[in-house]
This record gives sequence, structure tokens and C-alpha cells, in this order.
Amino acid sequence: MGDLTLDTARPHMTALADELSKAGAIRTPQWHDTFAAVPRHVLVPTWFEQEQNAKGITVWRQQRATADERYLAAAYRDVTLVTALDPATSEQVDDTAWTGFPTSSSTLPSLMAGMLEGLSVRTGHRVLEIGTGTGYNAALLCARLGDRLVHSIDVDPDLVDTARTRLARIGYTPGLTTGDGCTALPDLSFERIIATCSVPGIPQEWIEHAKPGAVIVADVALGIEGGLVRLTVDEDRRAIGHFTTTAGRFMPARSDPRAYPQPHRPQRAPEAESRPTTLTAPEIQSHYTLRLLLALQLPETELVYDIDDATGAMSIQLQRSDGAWARVPFIFNAEPTVTYGGDPNLWKQAETTWHWWKAHNRPAHDQFGYVREANGDAAVWHIPDGTRWHLTTRGRPR
Ligand SMILES: C[S@@+](CC[C@H](N)C(=O)[O-])C[C@H]1O[C@@H](n2cnc3c(N)ncnc32)[C@H](O)[C@@H]1O
Repeated sequence: MGDLTLDTARPHMTALADELSKAGAIRTPQWHDTFAAVPRHVLVPTWFEQEQNAKGITVWRQQRATADERYLAAAYRDVTLVTALDPATSEQVDDTAWTGFPTSSSTLPSLMAGMLEGLSVRTGHRVLEIGTGTGYNAALLCARLGDRLVHSIDVDPDLVDTARTRLARIGYTPGLTTGDGCTALPDLSFERIIATCSVPGIPQEWIEHAKPGAVIVADVALGIEGGLVRLTVDEDRRAIGHFTTTAGRFMPARSDPRAYPQPHRPQRAPEAESRPTTLTAPEIQSHYTLRLLLALQLPETELVYDIDDATGAMSIQLQRSDGAWARVPFIFNAEPTVTYGGDPNLWKQAETTWHWWKAHNRPAHDQFGYVREANGDAAVWHIPDGTRWHLTTRGRPR
């Protein structure tokens, strides 16, 4: 890192804290001062940025924070910095570039700030973080609460070791554990739990390690879409609260540090027909909460962006685990059509969901409650009228 000192970085740390406050992500002076005090570049000295290389292949090019102002400033942008690629599939293509899926990153600072504000920590709270990654978020928690009260876990032992070394370099020694943060937590109980990887539902293990009144902030992934929830664990071990309007989209929790979970893509049913529809690809693409409702209404279904090899035309495709699918293209100024295969109800249900959402004045994410009962059952409901969707214990709608 050359002759880079904390003093060189300090104006960038303050500028990031100011930017996050101005954007409304930081809402309290305590978190402003904390962001201004924690050097992100020490925890994220290198990262990857996506680019097309000379052969037209999309690669991750390694970047480095150096004393050069340009590179130092780059570490303090309000952007996600990808820091690890799936070792099982990534391939080195030149001296500083690889292909592959990201398996760890330093989260978008404004998202981090919003989640930390949502956690409502107070002095003396013991906090658990699932997803140590670079250790930046753990460092922020240490700076705010003291290392003694911060515990962080990551499934990848290399990440934990690196984070431990870098955290110590700036004076923080939180409790750090390697393991699956959904099934194997340290023998402690916590007032606050924050997860920076997504989960299909709130794991039993978290509830067992949550003190009554504990707050959980986590990204619940429900297939087509999910969202950040803020829940409170009550005396009966029920976690109840609501979605927030902040999009999470964290990388999914995995139990194997060396393998990234790949979605199971079923054999697609043969094409049945095309017909006019009023639900368009841009409508689905631009409405986050419409996608949450589609996720609730269409279990076992994923949404993918499809590019036609021959024409380059892009469409949105819903595909269900039984092979049913429906595709709407991004064509403007034309009568929209849907093409589908397998169960025609897949798209009909999508259209009905869209009509429901419009008829209810297009409610946003924070109009939806989320509960995880003590027995593991979970549900989402529309707060204004109580319409309810039951989820399986794995979190997916049933
Ligand atoms: C977005 S990164 C975390 C960012 C981190 N909080 C930071 O400040 O750099 C998500 C992390 O979750 C970790 N992870 C994935 N599955 C996990 C699991 N089951 N238990 C614990 N950590 C997990 C990944 O290894 C990755 O480091």
C-alpha cells in the first residue's frame, strides 16, 4: 500500500460519511462519526471491477487502493467492492483479471449505513454479524460499540483470517468465527443480529441466539424478489416486523465455502403460444414491490433476463421448477405479447398479481409485514388489509 497513511485517507473517510448523511442513509451523528473514523481501504486494499477485456469477455479486473489520490478515492466511493470470486469456477485470464461469480464483497456503504441505522444499536448491546467478508462492517460495529460486544461469522476461513489480520492492524479485535452462520453460531446470545448474506427464511439458530426483544436486520430472498426485513424477537420466540423499502440483494448464504450455490434450471416445457398481455417487461423491471408480490404468488419460480442469441433482443422470463415458463420482451411502441410454455396459469397469475397491486394503490415494501413463528412457519401480509401469504419453513411461498 506504499506510503499510504491514515492521515492521507482521513479526508476521504469524512467525505464518505458526509455523502451518506446527505443521501439520508446515515441519520444519526453517531453513525456519521463512526463512518468517518473507520478506514475502508485498510480492510479493502484490493477489489475487482467488471470490464470487457480485449477479446470481448466480461472479466473481473483487480484494483488496488494506493497512496495515489485517484485509487484511494476509489475505495471510498459509495459502491459495492467485489473482493472474492468463486474458487471452483473462476479462471485467471491475464495478470490481473479473472472470470467468475463474486463470493464476497464490501457492501455498498449506503446500504450498510441504512441497515446499521435500522439495527438501532445502543451502548452495551451485543451484536452478531453473519457474513464477515472484508471486516469493514464489523469494524464499524466495533468502533460504535467496542470490540468486546461484536461477533462476526463467515463461512469462508480465508476471509475470516484476512479480516482478523486487517482488523487488528487498525486496533479492532472482535470475536470472529468460521462456520455456517445459519446453523453454527457461537455460544452467546445477542441483542442485535445483522446478516450481510441473504437467507430464504430466518434460521432457527438465530432465534435461539437472540435475546427477547432482539432486533434482526436481514435480507430475505424469496425467489423472484425479496427484501430487507427488520424484525423483533418477542418473549414467545416469534420474530415479527416488516419489510423495509431498501433493496438488499445480498449474495445468498451458502454452507460450503468452496462452492457457490447454482440455481437448478429445469428442462423447459415446449412453447405453447403467444398472446397479447398488458403486463410488460419494463413494468416488472421497474417495480421492486411488484416483483416481491410475484415472488409471494409464484412459488418455485425465478425471474431471469433472457437475451436472444440471434437477435440480441432482451426479455424477462419467469421459469418455474416444473418447467413452465413465460417470456415478455422489452419492445417499446408495440402491442406487448407474452410467449409461454407449460402451465398457462403461470402468466395468468402474474397478471392477476399485477392487477391486485394496482388496485391496492401500488403499495411499497414497507406495507408488508413479515413473521417467523416459533415453530418455523413464516408469513407475509399486506399491513393495510391483512391479505396473507404463507411461506414454507425454508422461507419460500407455498
Ligand atoms: C456481502 S459479503 C459481506 C460483507 C461484509 N459484511 C463486509 O463488510 O465486507 C457476504 C459474505 O457472506 C458470507 N457468507 C455466505 N454464506 C454464509 C454463511 N452461511 N455463513 C456465514 N457467512 C456466509 C460470504 O462468504 C461473504 O463474505
